[in-house]
Amino acid sequence: MIYMLDSANIEEIKKSFDLFPMAGVTTNPTIVTKEKRDYYELLSEIRKIIGKEKMLHTQILAETFEEMIEESNFITKSFGEDTYTKIPVTAEGLKAIKYLKYKYNRNITATAIFSPQQALMAAEAGADYVAPYVNRSENIGIDSTSTISEICRLFEVGEISNCKILGASFKNVKQVHETILAGAKSITVSYETLKQLIYHPLTDTSIEGFINDWEKTYNTRKLYNKTTA
Ligand code: G3P
Repeated sequence: MIYMLDSANIEEIKKSFDLFPMAGVTTNPTIVTKEKRDYYELLSEIRKIIGKEKMLHTQILAETFEEMIEESNFITKSFGEDTYTKIPVTAEGLKAIKYLKYKYNRNITATAIFSPQQALMAAEAGADYVAPYVNRSENIGIDSTSTISEICRLFEVGEISNCKILGASFKNVKQVHETILAGAKSITVSYETLKQLIYHPLTDTSIEGFINDWEKTYNTRKLYNKTTA
């Protein structure tokens, strides 16, 4: 399973990479605007924090092929050759994905996906990841679990083995859970959703019980005495 953090917030990135088994960071223009910082400086800092071995997926803003290529070139030049350029699935976007993959073998994440056919076309164009938007789909009545299962099925039929489904746009644990069960092997989540994925009140009360029992018996909250160990 690949977990990524959908955030450009430095504190959230530091905390999530310290605590959780994170594989990378994803950003989009809206996420970046929340930090109110210069894009180049912010993304450079993120790359420095996560290191070269973790994935960084960052999105272009351009709407035309030529500008998309320029922005992708800026991204890889600035944040490392391995950085994934996120490109929305439009006709110009597909042209850019094809060009960048076959000319430079660039890492590409096709994003803003709402239908299985968009995902199939992006994979065929050369995307390494396709990012279906779960919560935004559900907001307009699309059954996102069916979308993910159908993408998996289309990839089987189309014999596409080099493109992963990156579930994105989550607001709760249920959406993440169902997305993974439907076949997505990678997800990107906000820091809030990441924490919710492992939260259970019974875990907290169980721990409290263990500590209380220990303390009542041994009159200490320590497992062993450091001075005699
Ligand atoms: O990664 C996709 C994502 O950033 C969109 O998420 O929460 O704005 O729907 P959201």
